[in-house]
Amino acid sequence: MRIQSAAEPIELDDDLLIAGDNAAVLRRLPEDTFDLIYMDPPFNTGRAQARRTLAVAADPGATRIGFGGRRYRSRLLETLSYDDAFADYLGFLEPRLTRARELLATHGSLYFHIDYREAHYCKLLLDEIFGRDAFLNELIWAYDYGAKPRRRWPAKHDTILVYVRTPGAHHFDPDAVEREPYMAPGLVSAEKAARGKMPTDVWFHTIVPTNGREKTGYPTQKPEGVLRRLVGASSRPGGWCLDPFAGSGTLGAVCRELGRRFVLVDDSAVALEVMRERLAPGRPAEAKSRDRARAART
Ligand SMILES: C[S@@+](CC[C@H](N)C(=O)[O-])C[C@H]1O[C@@H](n2cnc3c(N)ncnc32)[C@H](O)[C@@H]1O
Repeated sequence: MRIQSAAEPIELDDDLLIAGDNAAVLRRLPEDTFDLIYMDPPFNTGRAQARRTLAVAADPGATRIGFGGRRYRSRLLETLSYDDAFADYLGFLEPRLTRARELLATHGSLYFHIDYREAHYCKLLLDEIFGRDAFLNELIWAYDYGAKPRRRWPAKHDTILVYVRTPGAHHFDPDAVEREPYMAPGLVSAEKAARGKMPTDVWFHTIVPTNGREKTGYPTQKPEGVLRRLVGASSRPGGWCLDPFAGSGTLGAVCRELGRRFVLVDDSAVALEVMRERLAPGRPAEAKSRDRARAART
C-alpha cells in the first residue's frame, strides 16, 4: 500500500491512500477501470461532525467516581472532525459523480450512500448523470441506535443508491454474498431454511459496535458488514475499487479481506492518519484494536 498526495503522479500499481480534494484526484485516475465505486460523502447535515476520544486512568485524588467507588480522571485524547455544511450540495456532488461514472469499467457499479435529508434530490441528480435505465437498486440500511424523538418516527436508516455504468452488462454475483436467516423459516422447506436467503434491498445491520474490533473512533464510520455485501456482489476478486470520501478506510479494510485492490481518497489529515493505522500492512485489525485498548488503559 502506498500513501501519497494528490499532486504526485498516480500509478495503479499498488493499493493507494491519496490525501487531497477528490475532485482533483478523480480527474487524474484512469477511465473505464473500477469494478466498484463507493461514495459516502458528508450528508449535508449542516453540523460539524465530531467524535471525541477519552482516555481514563485511575487517580485516587480525582473527582469522578466510577464502578466500585474507584476514582478516575479522564483526558481528551483527540477530536476527530470534519465540516458538513454545503451551500450548494448538488453543485458539489455533480462534477464528482459525472467523473465517477467515467472511471467505472463497462461492468462497474456505483454505490452512493446518503441519508433521508438528501436522498431524493441525489436520486434525481444520479438519474440525470447515469440515465434512469442505469438505476439498479435503492438499498435501505436499517439500524437501531441513538436518540428517539417523540413527535415523529425516529429516522433510523440510510439509503444507498446503486447505478451501473452499462445497463445489463454489470457484474453482480449473488453467490459471493453471505446469506441470512429467513424471517419466517417455517414457510420454506427445511433445506432452504438451513441454507438461508439472499439479502433483499433492506439490510438490517447494527452500527459499528462501540467496543468492537473495527471501531476506529472516526465520526460516521460505516460497518464493514454493510460494505462486505456490496464489495462481494459487485466487484471481482483482484478488481479495483475506489472510495473518494474514504474517512476511516472501511472500503479498504473490506477490500483487503476479500482480495480486491483499492484507491482511497480523503482531504482530511486525520482521516489519512486513521486509515494509515487501520490498513498498516501485516497488522490484522484485531492487533490494532488491542494496541488501542492497551494505550487507553495506560
Ligand atoms: C461520511 S465520511 C466517510 C466515512 C467512511 N465511509 C467510513 O466508513 O469511515 C465523509 C468523508 O469525506 C471527506 N471529504 C469531504 N469532502 C471531501 C473532498 N472534497 N475530497 C476528499 N474527501 C472529502 C471527509 O473528510 C470525510 O472523511
